[in-house]
Amino acid sequence: MPRAASPILSIAPMMAWTDRAYRRMMRRITRRTLLYTEMVTTGAILHGDAERHLARAPETSPLALQLGGDDPEALAQAIRIAEAYGYDEYNLNVGCPSDRVQRGRFGACLMADPERVADVVRAMREATPKPVTVKHRIGIDDRDAYDDMRRFVDVVARAGADRFTVHARKAWLQGLSPKENRTIPPLRHDEVARLAVERPDLIIETNGGITTLDAVEEHLAHVDAVMVGRAAYEAPMRFATADARFFDATATIPTLREVVEGMRDVVDDELHRGTRFATVAKPMIALARGVPGARGWRRTLGEGAHRTGAGPDLIDAALRTLPDEVLDHRARVPRDAESRTVEVAAPQLA
Ligand SMILES: Cc1cc2nc3c(=O)[nH]c(=O)nc-3n(C[C@H](O)[C@H](O)[C@H](O)COP(=O)(O)O)c2cc1C
Repeated sequence: MPRAASPILSIAPMMAWTDRAYRRMMRRITRRTLLYTEMVTTGAILHGDAERHLARAPETSPLALQLGGDDPEALAQAIRIAEAYGYDEYNLNVGCPSDRVQRGRFGACLMADPERVADVVRAMREATPKPVTVKHRIGIDDRDAYDDMRRFVDVVARAGADRFTVHARKAWLQGLSPKENRTIPPLRHDEVARLAVERPDLIIETNGGITTLDAVEEHLAHVDAVMVGRAAYEAPMRFATADARFFDATATIPTLREVVEGMRDVVDDELHRGTRFATVAKPMIALARGVPGARGWRRTLGEGAHRTGAGPDLIDAALRTLPDEVLDHRARVPRDAESRTVEVAAPQLA
């Protein structure tokens, strides 16, 4: 049985996107959504600059560290090192189809070897009392029948995985780039929903192509949890109502100005840690997506951040590009939203 209550909403691990700056920004939008790191390989932790890969901000909990690897002892050792950083969960990547990852024999290709994944999960569980979870695909190549996936899940569940997050499309290991593998194979959410019905004791999360909180709510009628990836990066303010809608009806819904003001401390702290201003500013560019003034905002933060000497002053300049009604708009939970109660985005963002 799962060892901890599992959040019902999460933001997917995304290489080069869900970095520390992005996660700190999302925490100023939603306190309760589970966040993930980018994938970190066991090699990077055991033989690389572990501090650089693992250093996190305390306020970003609940935060899962996503690990890439296939060697049980290496995964266990990586977790023992990571424990000092206070992660709330460890997640194994069994979904990435990139050539680099395949050369390391981990990621999506591990779906062909559920016993190996079970050994890895067992070793991970022995290394930590925290939840150990798995993110995988519907299938790979020609091994993509529903029964193949259910067998994979059954074998890995016996090793004690606490949640299964299914990217609801298969991956082709040859011939498609990782990006194409996120768009070309069709979504099969119905099979994830069937898994949730047939395995009621397991926590099943679905992922893939979900872009609004309304859609999250629809999926929650069929599965235990929902993960959102690209939409959470491309339109982060869509999550402004997530806490009030899914976790706590009395939660504060932040305005754009409040989120940006909250980023001032993050910018100071990140610059102090040696992070480049452009790295902290990058995820903020999407904050004002689709609203009046967005172009000026994007130009100021996007292009300006790369100029020599760019720093926190740019935030003031960017704020001046947006009208007050955009900056101070507070979204609301739509009245007809189910139990969990909000309008997904400010109307301008819809
Ligand atoms: C830029 C980018 C990087 C990604 N990196 C990872 C990763 O490190 N680990 C992982 O499990 N999935 C990764 N993914 C896949 C996402 O976690 C997610 O499964 C996929 O984007 C489908 O969800 P979506 O349609 O909501 O974006 C990445 C996706 C993108 C767009």
